Amino acid sequence: MKNIVILGATGSIGTNTLDIIRRFPEQFRIIGLTAKSRDAKLEGLIGTFRPKIVALQDVAAAKALAKRLPQSGVEIRSGEAGIVEVARLSEADLVISAIVGSAGLLPTLSAIRAKKTVAIANKEPLVMAGEIIQREAKKNGVTILPVDSEHSAIFQALNGERHQDIRRIILTASGGPLLRRSTAEKTNIRPEEALAHPNWEMGPKISIDSATLMNKGLEIIEAKWLFDLPPEKIDVVIHPQSIVHSMVEFVDRSVVAQMGLPDMRTPISYVLNYPRRSSLALPSLDLAEVGTLTFEKPDTKAFPLLAIAYEVLKKGGTLAPVLNAANEEAVQAFLEKNINFGTINKVIEKTLETHKPKATEDLHDVMEADRWARTEGKRWIKHFAACSA
Ligand SMILES: NC(=O)c1ccc[n+]([C@@H]2O[C@H](COP(=O)([O-])OP(=O)(O)OC[C@H]3O[C@@H](n4cnc5c(N)ncnc54)[C@H](OP(=O)(O)O)[C@@H]3O)[C@@H](O)[C@H]2O)c1
Repeated sequence: MKNIVILGATGSIGTNTLDIIRRFPEQFRIIGLTAKSRDAKLEGLIGTFRPKIVALQDVAAAKALAKRLPQSGVEIRSGEAGIVEVARLSEADLVISAIVGSAGLLPTLSAIRAKKTVAIANKEPLVMAGEIIQREAKKNGVTILPVDSEHSAIFQALNGERHQDIRRIILTASGGPLLRRSTAEKTNIRPEEALAHPNWEMGPKISIDSATLMNKGLEIIEAKWLFDLPPEKIDVVIHPQSIVHSMVEFVDRSVVAQMGLPDMRTPISYVLNYPRRSSLALPSLDLAEVGTLTFEKPDTKAFPLLAIAYEVLKKGGTLAPVLNAANEEAVQAFLEKNINFGTINKVIEKTLETHKPKATEDLHDVMEADRWARTEGKRWIKHFAACSA
């Protein structure tokens, strides 16, 4: 029996993880769950999975939940400290890191410092502080398992291979819902259209990141830290069908691809059962039915954030947390309809342009860069919003 903690249990990854766990009650036990503020959804999960402890970031939501569940036996915590307490739970065998954005950094690091095996979906902390996370994982003898479908594909393709035999990895990108739209068409696209991903059902932030291709930019940085590869060994190819989840080319030019229908339950099942696999009753991939798999070069003029992410990856230091924070602020402003879609790129470009990069020695440097970029990003959001008013 594996004891599981899910950070971000009420989200898309959390829900997919719980869907698998529900099917195998003799193999997995939920002992800790966290969310931000959706206390009613968390209450439903408490009823189904009977965890030992839960935490909500939002203090008022946690209080409301505790009031409704006075005799449930579940411990209810609040705030970041509460989430960290759940992340460090001594009985946990596996922590699923599925909070969205930078809010997952401290809980993920805390789980690693508590020597927990961590399955990471929450890519933003790796983008912000990949070097620190890997350093802590090494120091504590912790295994980090990738959940992102692309990184899971690479991880699976690398099983049993030597690091020096990797020529390059090739991350696939669907291109998102706006792949064929012109820059002019994209400028004033509404959030509902940008959120409508053709292949994957995901939370709002990653859906917008997919529409701008920032998601692929974040993923190349994530890949650097997960697989210890330089930027020139990380390629991206557009593959609109999302069947090939990613590939590894080896030095003998052999290319190993991992394929499957686009369903996050497959890579999640892989980390839950690692190093084994477990049968999962999902539809099979029928290549004859899919018919055609296509691949094309990403258009970095139409999607400049991918090229920007490569630059950030090459230069390193505080640029990565700045890129991440500016993106989080811009996406939030777009979802709240304060800026148009085309302005997301501009906010990120301007914030990076005004930043004076330095090395990130420790978490303090990362958090300082994050704070700076949020203030600067908000300033540019206000500026562009005023220009278009
Ligand atoms: N969705 C996918 O298919 C997919 C695939 C690959 C990678 N990922 C990555 O996985 C992560 C999660 O994505 P998602 O799509 O599952 O996101 P999501 O649906 O928006 O869910 C986010 C989860 O994090 C919680 N949360 C949000 N802000 C928080 C905060 N400040 N403090 C504590 N908890 C917070 C939410 O709680 P509430 O419900 O209470 O708001 C929710 O449980 C992201 O980093 C994403 O890039 C996702």
